[in-house]
Amino acid sequence: MKIVITGASSGLGRELAIQYGAKGFQLCLIARREDKLHALKNQIGSNCEVYVGDVTNRNEIERIASEFISRYGPPDIVIANAGISLGTYAAARQSNDELNEVMKTNFFGMIYTCQAFIDSMVLAGSGTLVGISSLAGIRGVPGSSAYSSSKAGAISYLESLRVELLNSGVRVLTVCPGYIRTPMTDVNTFNMPFLMDVESAAKSLIGAVDRKKSFHVMPWQMALVGFILRRLPNWIYDWFASRAPRKPITQKNK
Ligand SMILES: NC(=O)c1ccc[n+]([C@@H]2O[C@H](COP(=O)([O-])OP(=O)(O)OC[C@H]3O[C@@H](n4cnc5c(N)ncnc54)[C@H](OP(=O)(O)O)[C@@H]3O)[C@@H](O)[C@H]2O)c1
Repeated sequence: MKIVITGASSGLGRELAIQYGAKGFQLCLIARREDKLHALKNQIGSNCEVYVGDVTNRNEIERIASEFISRYGPPDIVIANAGISLGTYAAARQSNDELNEVMKTNFFGMIYTCQAFIDSMVLAGSGTLVGISSLAGIRGVPGSSAYSSSKAGAISYLESLRVELLNSGVRVLTVCPGYIRTPMTDVNTFNMPFLMDVESAAKSLIGAVDRKKSFHVMPWQMALVGFILRRLPNWIYDWFASRAPRKPITQKNK
């Protein structure tokens, strides 16, 4: 099996690389921080190719994809995992830079990653494209408007893709994690309900791929929360969401 993972230098992507690497699968790991990627390659072993790349740069991702495909053939699993999270005010014009950065990484970066590999997978008539969204993509989260919008966009994009690829042999899996303990959430000072350790999160995601799921919320308690959130009338959602703790706003967009 050949597995591509973006955002493999840290957190969930790194742990997925470790767990898939331990199964002896051929890995293609992509991120911007070269030192972290090389340290990971040393830990995993020879079944691991690392590529320094920025998912917001379409040409770069396409170059990496064609390099990997020409050497190893079409991947069996592509996990578009790279992402960033910033606290942003929806109303503040000052947060436009952050909004662009988050959308470019979480939304367009995910699309560029999927598109770079789709043709080869469709030609092979097999494989799974996995996009990492978030529970925050299910409803608009105050204080995280950019993140929440990017993840909502990811859910819709992946759904369109899944239906378009229905008879191609290529599956699409949308993953919506709740909270996972990674560098992304280490900055959060509030209590994170049903916080998962990164090992269980990676295991749960791998299980969802193996079971050929199309939509996976983890952990199961958050699946229940997501189910309820989708159905809550606005007036109840607004009451709860306005009292929920918020991601710290960065210095830049304060
Ligand atoms: N942690 C959570 O609670 C949580 C919850 C829901 C969803 N998620 C999602 O899960 C995914 C992984 O997050 P995480 O918690 O593991 O965060 P993390 O530890 O901060 O890791 C993020 C990864 O994305 C990479 N990345 C960021 N921008 C990139 C870019 N432009 N090009 C290439 N790689 C880039 C980073 O690598 P470099 O900096 O080296 O490029 C890093 O490897 C994200 O999509 C996140 O939104 C996380």
